[in-house]
Amino acid sequence: MTDEMNAILQQVFDHLARAARSRHSAMHTAVVATADGNMRTMVLRGFDRENAVLRFNTDVRSPKVAAIRQDQAMRVLAYDPDAKVQIRMMGQGHVDDRSPAADAAWAGSTTFARRAYLTQGAPGELAGCETSGLPEWAEGINPSEEQVAPARANFALLMVRVTRFDWLYLSSDGHRRAQFDIGDDGTVSGTWLMP
Ligand SMILES: Cc1cc2nc3c(=O)[nH]c(=O)nc-3n(C[C@H](O)[C@H](O)[C@H](O)COP(=O)(O)O)c2cc1C
Repeated sequence: MTDEMNAILQQVFDHLARAARSRHSAMHTAVVATADGNMRTMVLRGFDRENAVLRFNTDVRSPKVAAIRQDQAMRVLAYDPDAKVQIRMMGQGHVDDRSPAADAAWAGSTTFARRAYLTQGAPGELAGCETSGLPEWAEGINPSEEQVAPARANFALLMVRVTRFDWLYLSSDGHRRAQFDIGDDGTVSGTWLMP
């Protein structure tokens, strides 16, 4: 790859790593699409640049988990209007609900955040009435460790290994666009595209 392409690759990886750390980054939320055609907004929780893996948290009962277990093909779309950069990623999804990494992510989140996994039905299930889905005792409180412990069974990590991404930079000088492929061994190749 040329030096310029390499610089863009590092910029994209820096951007994603920063976005995972900071809720002030526009790319802290991304649109995550599954092979069944469904899309949803998710919070980017981590980016492992060595392996080009995005990490999200999710509810193992949600329809997206079943979709990914059926077909791992995924897309992730992120746009930062200040940086004028769009990143369109293609990759393979993997749901991990039992590993030490999942335990660590659970332990590392606030009990308030963990409360979301206490809902009494799966995300998207018919509710029959307007509801938070939480048990009544959990409404409006910041629960204790003991109170949220049963919800661990509903918590999972979604890892997306990025295998290709498309970078688009909007500029008044003329836009720029490039596509990068990331091999299993981590080697990256890039090519310029017409914007
Ligand atoms: C700003 C925002 C952030 C969200 N973050 C997450 C998230 O990190 N994980 C998640 O599973 N759902 C998140 N959601 C909810 C999803 O968009 C979606 O409604 C839910 O996961 C059910 O998706 P599914 O039916 O496609 O499985 C978020 C929604 C919004 C609006």
